[in-house]
Amino acid sequence: AANAMWGGRFAAGPDAIMQAINASIGFDQRLYAQDIRGSRAHAAMLAAQGILTPKDAEAIGEGLLTVLSEIEAGDFPFRVELEDIHMNVEARLKDLIGEPAGRLHTARSRNDQVAVDFRLWVRDQCDAAITGIEALMQAFVAQAEAGAGWVMPGFTHLQTAQPVTWGHHMLAYVEMLARDRSRFADARARMNECPLGAAALAGTSFPIDRHMTAAALGFDRPTANSLDSVSDRDFALEFLSASAICAMHLSRFAEELVIWSSAQFRFVRLSDRWTTGSSIMPQKKNPDAAELLRAKLGRVLGAAVALFTVMKGLPLTYSKDMQEDKEQVFDAADTLMLGLAAMTGMVADMQANRDALAASAASGFSTATDLADWLVRELGLPFREAHHVTGTLVAMAEAQGCDLPDLTLADMQTVHPGIRPDVFAVLGVENSVRSRTSYGGTAPDNVRAQVARWKEHLGMT
Ligand code: ARG
Repeated sequence: AANAMWGGRFAAGPDAIMQAINASIGFDQRLYAQDIRGSRAHAAMLAAQGILTPKDAEAIGEGLLTVLSEIEAGDFPFRVELEDIHMNVEARLKDLIGEPAGRLHTARSRNDQVAVDFRLWVRDQCDAAITGIEALMQAFVAQAEAGAGWVMPGFTHLQTAQPVTWGHHMLAYVEMLARDRSRFADARARMNECPLGAAALAGTSFPIDRHMTAAALGFDRPTANSLDSVSDRDFALEFLSASAICAMHLSRFAEELVIWSSAQFRFVRLSDRWTTGSSIMPQKKNPDAAELLRAKLGRVLGAAVALFTVMKGLPLTYSKDMQEDKEQVFDAADTLMLGLAAMTGMVADMQANRDALAASAASGFSTATDLADWLVRELGLPFREAHHVTGTLVAMAEAQGCDLPDLTLADMQTVHPGIRPDVFAVLGVENSVRSRTSYGGTAPDNVRAQVARWKEHLGMT
């Protein structure tokens, strides 16, 4: 049989396979609350404008609440032949209230309906992402506070570079997450315009009040161009882009956790709650959650790439291709939220191995730069020459199988006669980090000041 919603000109119904490729109800039922909210706002506006009678609007509004409670109670009969959430809700409304249900779709199209539903959903997800990000920021700040002055090696190329502090390393992630948070906030502010009332694409001849529906749905204003309103998915792309960058940050820390928790590094101990054992090797404690977080970026970025690819060649305005937006965004949002929650738990539980961090910080000639700086400051050497002298001393230590502080003064003086005993002070890692007081540097006092700033900012005090 032809479709009850649009089948006027159709003699036959769709092929079963057409139905399978065309229907979105399997996934867009997640938009039910937004769909009903949008419809209620639309009906109230139609009544206020004299387009619907108060009686019909009342019946529609009440009926929609019944539909809402049926769906929430889990006894709503979703029907695939009704294609999507919009027509499932409307068809059920018709069962419940009869004729007035057919008046709800006045001055509206599924094109603006889906645009408003999806915007409402993505807007909520921006808020959820921000909340999840803040929880993770707090976990990193707590770690930074506990170990503001603990020394550890800082790396470039994953080779020992210079000593840094644990707190400084933790706060690097807080900075990244703060940018993530602001990206979601920016995206949210930009998407907060209401497309409802654009109708199919051209607007409508009915005297609707789009400002009223925009306000009722918590938008800052209605969108200004009806064509753009129904063809725009920038809000979804911005959400996916911000999600991908955030997931990339999670992936980078996950990678550090995988390295740090290895027997070769022993920088951190992950708690039993976030690790698994091996069925054959009894000693194993595998960082599975971290590994999965490292991998999950693939899904989130994949969703972004998928939707960019859907959108890139579409002429204005709506094309059915755009129905492919929702599964990508749902999956990315779910993945990001799970990832944030898992990372928050792991960070809160992880225990830094202070001794292993300190021992590692002192190895690998990590204070070579301090030595070169000393030669510049105390002996007046040009930095390039100081660099060369230090390199010779590193080679000497390497040949002797020791670290820089283990060289004798006499040995050092064979390389440069001006070297004095007070050079040894700068070869210690504690002194090294304490000296890095430039703004944004790793000195423990700097880190403590930043921790205090973040605690205040995140309401942790
Ligand atoms: N299920 C559709 C989607 O997700 C709703 C919009 C349908 N509009 C249309 N003209 N067929 O995009």
